[in-house]
Amino acid sequence: MTARAPWRPVARAGAAVAAGFVCLLAGVLVADYVSARREEPREQARITELQVQAQTDPSAARALAAEQDRVTRGRQQRKARKNAIAILLIVCASAFVGAAKWINAMEGRRPHALPVKAIPMAVAAPVTLPSAGASAPSPGLPAPLDLTFVDELVGREGRSRESAIPILQAIQAHYGYLPDDALRRVTELTEITPAQVAGTSTFYARFRRSPVGEHIVRVCHGTACHVSGARAITEELRRQLHIRDGADTDPAGLFTIDEVACLGCCSLAPVLMVDERTAGGLTPASAYAALGAARHPEPA
Ligand code: FES
Repeated sequence: MTARAPWRPVARAGAAVAAGFVCLLAGVLVADYVSARREEPREQARITELQVQAQTDPSAARALAAEQDRVTRGRQQRKARKNAIAILLIVCASAFVGAAKWINAMEGRRPHALPVKAIPMAVAAPVTLPSAGASAPSPGLPAPLDLTFVDELVGREGRSRESAIPILQAIQAHYGYLPDDALRRVTELTEITPAQVAGTSTFYARFRRSPVGEHIVRVCHGTACHVSGARAITEELRRQLHIRDGADTDPAGLFTIDEVACLGCCSLAPVLMVDERTAGGLTPASAYAALGAARHPEPA
């Protein structure tokens, strides 16, 4: 048992209290919302009734004004209450994350190579890399792209401008991105213009114009990871990997950095996944090491 072990019950109690408050506050928010939804039709009906009466009875005008004041005040109070609860929720959630990290530290859980089982991806559909026989990108000596797939695809999908999206989707699925040569071939074989290709491929975020790296690094930018420094980690990884502004893949084509939503292990925040391996409790300094053996060699 370490010298810090006596603090473990304190950390656990803190985490439990913070979690309790998170649940309680979330319950209050939900109850407030439900009550407001039930109240609104009644308030509206009452105001409508008074408006009708006020057309024939001048004394009802005062009651109408009073009712409108009461409703407005009630809504303002509800809004202020909601804002206060939201702030408390953030504070309690941060306290919970802090206590969970403290417990992890005391129990000796290491930030790297954690035995966390594969977590379902929150974003980023899996990208199919080019098949070995087709066009595996080779750093420094790119193989000529096999365009047979594009020729067959155009034969199947047709040559009209309406086929642009299905053709681009199929090319993306086959090559893992939209290679310039494949797009050029599409414009040669079909009525689809280069301008249409450029517009469509940049409008939809799922289309990539450059190959994905050999390894996908998913850096979590969910709330817990964001408050724990996910932005600094992403920026440090980009710096260490020499990834240019506007790009997401390093020049050697080894790593693609993807910013994703919650990976489902917030108590380890900040977290990243290298392919299917998860690493948590990171700092900007330790994040690069978490990429494992495939990292770039340190510059001489
Ligand atoms: S917010 Fe990052 S794992 Fe949940």
